[in-house]
Amino acid sequence: MAETQKSPLREGIRSWEHRLGKPTNSLAVDFVESLSFDKRLYKYDIVGSIAHAEMLSERKLLTKEEFKQIKDALVEISHQISEGKFKFDKTYEDIHMAIEAALISKIGEAGKKLHTGRSRNDQVATDMRLWMRDEIELIQAKIALLQKAFVKLAEKYTANIMPAYTHMQRAQPISIAAYLLSFVEQLHRDSLRLKNCRLLLNLSPLGSGAIAGSSLPLDRKQVCGLLGFSDITYNTIDSVSDRDFCAEFIFDSCLISAHLSKLAEDWIIFSTTEFDFIRIDDAFCTSSSMMPQKRNPDMLELIRGKTGTLYGSLMAILTILKAQPSGYNRDLQEDKVHTFKASDTIEACLDMACAIVDNTSFKHEKISAGLDKGFLDATALAEYLVKKGVAFRTAHGIVGSLVAQCEKDGKALADVSIEQFKKFSNVIGEDVYQCLGSKNVAASYATAAAASPGQMIEQINYWKKQFAKQ
Ligand code: ARG
Repeated sequence: MAETQKSPLREGIRSWEHRLGKPTNSLAVDFVESLSFDKRLYKYDIVGSIAHAEMLSERKLLTKEEFKQIKDALVEISHQISEGKFKFDKTYEDIHMAIEAALISKIGEAGKKLHTGRSRNDQVATDMRLWMRDEIELIQAKIALLQKAFVKLAEKYTANIMPAYTHMQRAQPISIAAYLLSFVEQLHRDSLRLKNCRLLLNLSPLGSGAIAGSSLPLDRKQVCGLLGFSDITYNTIDSVSDRDFCAEFIFDSCLISAHLSKLAEDWIIFSTTEFDFIRIDDAFCTSSSMMPQKRNPDMLELIRGKTGTLYGSLMAILTILKAQPSGYNRDLQEDKVHTFKASDTIEACLDMACAIVDNTSFKHEKISAGLDKGFLDATALAEYLVKKGVAFRTAHGIVGSLVAQCEKDGKALADVSIEQFKKFSNVIGEDVYQCLGSKNVAASYATAAAASPGQMIEQINYWKKQFAKQ
């Protein structure tokens, strides 16, 4: 008993110093600490501790009075941290030890009982899962805002046509809305992926202790219920070392970033003088320190560039997890560096993408004026021949020769006379002109979900209904 009283954390001596006999070397203090980046977990650490303490009191490992003291002091610490009044001392290594030390210094003996049956190993695993549940919801909300911005923009341009590209070569005409809705679709999958990540991570590791559980009669299911997890984890060794959810979360963020980088790349190209398809509002452009004419799409370039930051985090977490021996190893502390970096980066990119989509217009008249270039109606002409009974492969050859001829003559397909058409195929009649020209072609798409103006109105209504359900 006297021994316990000689080693209180409140006197600045950590309990393990009785074992090690020496304070930690100052270089090692700086090297080992995670407080500088894991302090953002404080709310989750406190919520987890209160649930653990409540369970301990149910199990008679704490008195009701001790539980109340612990809970009140933890709530007070939480306020101190949120108000910036908490002194973070890196010698406590991490947020778990910093909060425990503050608790003991506030309430003494009762505070020393909080860590009963618990290790920082199951504690940090719990904190990260709690943090990530909220983080996923936040990112999903940002995804939804971006989807809504795309739908709003698409609504303005359902009737306007633009070229769709494959291999960056003009392919077929589409409604501008179809192009914009392609991002809504990608983001929908991104959100589902995160939902799945949340589903898989929503298990309570608390009570796994350092690696093997505890000889104390802890009620893991009660803590699980208090923290809103769907179940407990069922292997304590795996529980303290599992960071699959971090790798998955970062991967999901990477894929969002890949999608945003596609948008960025498109719009950087679309805003060149050569394309001149869109105008991004001045507020989202920068200029040059030397060339006065410049309107540079730096925000989009950074969205594209930050994809590299995210992919780096993914490579980092996968490498950290590789070949670690079973159980907890301090390597795992690095999970937070990359998980937090990924979440901050993807949040910022989603916010910026949303603001840019909200502040960009398509120069639809300018786009429309250039639609006769590039033979966007060639495939529709081949399909016209199919409707007249020509085999598709033959039709493909006929139209290919026609296009080659038109290219030589500097003409569009719609400029070819009926007599000239007949030289290539005698099934071509006057009605051919109804299927030529980008507007006619886009209006003629008949397959489900094709990029025609009519179908875009349906799709926009579909998405709006989905948003209303959220
Ligand atoms: N700061 C540590 C981390 O983030 C907490 C767990 C430390 N556990 C230990 N046995 N040293 O992983």
